[in-house]
Amino acid sequence: MAKKTIEDLGEISGKRVLVRVDFNVAISPKDPKTRDEARITDDTRIRAAVPTIEALLEKNARVILVSHMGRPDGNVVEGLRLDCVARRLRELLPQNVLKIDDCIGPKVAAAVLNMKAGSVLLLENVRFQAAEESKDDLCRVGFAERLADLADIYVSDAFGTAHRDHASTCSIAKVMKGLGKPCVAGLLMRDELEFLGKAIENPEKPYVVILGGAKVKDKIKLIKNLIGVADTLLIGGGMAYTFWKAAGAKIGGSLCEDSMVDEVATLMKIAEAQKTDIIFAVDSIAAAPLKKDENGKIISPKEMWVCDIDELGIPDGLVGYDIGPVSAKIFDTHIKSAATVVWNGPMGMFEVAAFDEGTQAVAESMADAEALTIVGGGDSAAAVTQMGFADRMKFISTGGGASLEFLQGDVLPGVAVLDENELAAI
Ligand code: 3PG
Ligand code: MG
Repeated sequence: MAKKTIEDLGEISGKRVLVRVDFNVAISPKDPKTRDEARITDDTRIRAAVPTIEALLEKNARVILVSHMGRPDGNVVEGLRLDCVARRLRELLPQNVLKIDDCIGPKVAAAVLNMKAGSVLLLENVRFQAAEESKDDLCRVGFAERLADLADIYVSDAFGTAHRDHASTCSIAKVMKGLGKPCVAGLLMRDELEFLGKAIENPEKPYVVILGGAKVKDKIKLIKNLIGVADTLLIGGGMAYTFWKAAGAKIGGSLCEDSMVDEVATLMKIAEAQKTDIIFAVDSIAAAPLKKDENGKIISPKEMWVCDIDELGIPDGLVGYDIGPVSAKIFDTHIKSAATVVWNGPMGMFEVAAFDEGTQAVAESMADAEALTIVGGGDSAAAVTQMGFADRMKFISTGGGASLEFLQGDVLPGVAVLDENELAAI
């Protein structure tokens, strides 16, 4: 069902628009001690929200930004203040961005009152408030009412957090709706729903989905949802070794979820009956178990072996860390002949230089493909960006958990709560 967006709002000049964004960006160090120490290492999510902010500013709205960062669990954590986000926003927007050290209370109310039309106010990390994630509905609603008091219109551009039923992603919209105030999607949210929507509703065929990452268990619901919809599932990453085991191959010390082996064998049969080809990696780059240096950083191994599923498999004492060159070639052929390609999950341990080739190869095949190429967020999005292929994908989701849940067919509470566009549904 199509959602109303900021383009469906009428006159908003001077109106207070509260925009829930997902500025939960990667920072360094991971655990900064002060608000000035945190450095943003990937600003994709901030840049992705800029079109919405600009569109609202162009219409002379007063833009109030709300986000979480990290998991402070209801405590004020100095290193997780949103000052680093404010600094980045000031570089991205011509307007001054005022940042305040709280998200509710008299100081916030006064700051909002003082806002000029066409200006931006960034509130403090919303997860400093325990009520944000409270399991108690009344507690969340009480907090949401205070946030809702600040605004005339609610906009959600936080696709990455739309799978969370939190005060600032859901309860606030319910409260504002009750008051007859509009609750609409931002431009990023609109694009996410449009592109990821194409992957689950009538994708243009041939439809190829590449799945990776460590665990089958994390992707099982997605695989089930894709059987009968996708023409081909290409499987790499740590999860491929459970498929190897199900096929009777030796996997040495590679990742394997023994409890999933039977389920995988059953899935292969169901997929065959429903005309979805499940193709898993047939070769692997293996090495002796990896060691870490004194700083906890994984040491790239000196010796690696290409192991083939049809020969010895992966011998004892070795661990598969990436897909091999034959798999990359097979995957490339499927990617290049597809009309729609969705990718979720890296092909190997790409953060270690020795094992980034499989992920790099898939990124390259996607970049060269003519298909509608969609990267389903999380680690694969980080890999594509890090490897310099981001501009050559048709769409990269800003969601991690959210895109996975969306693709596996779940209703995201932060999407469900937004106003329907009844005209679009006719
Ligand atoms: C994410 O990065 O997955 C979102 O920002 C949600 O954060 P969370 O997983 O801590 O709820
Ligand atoms: Mg998450």
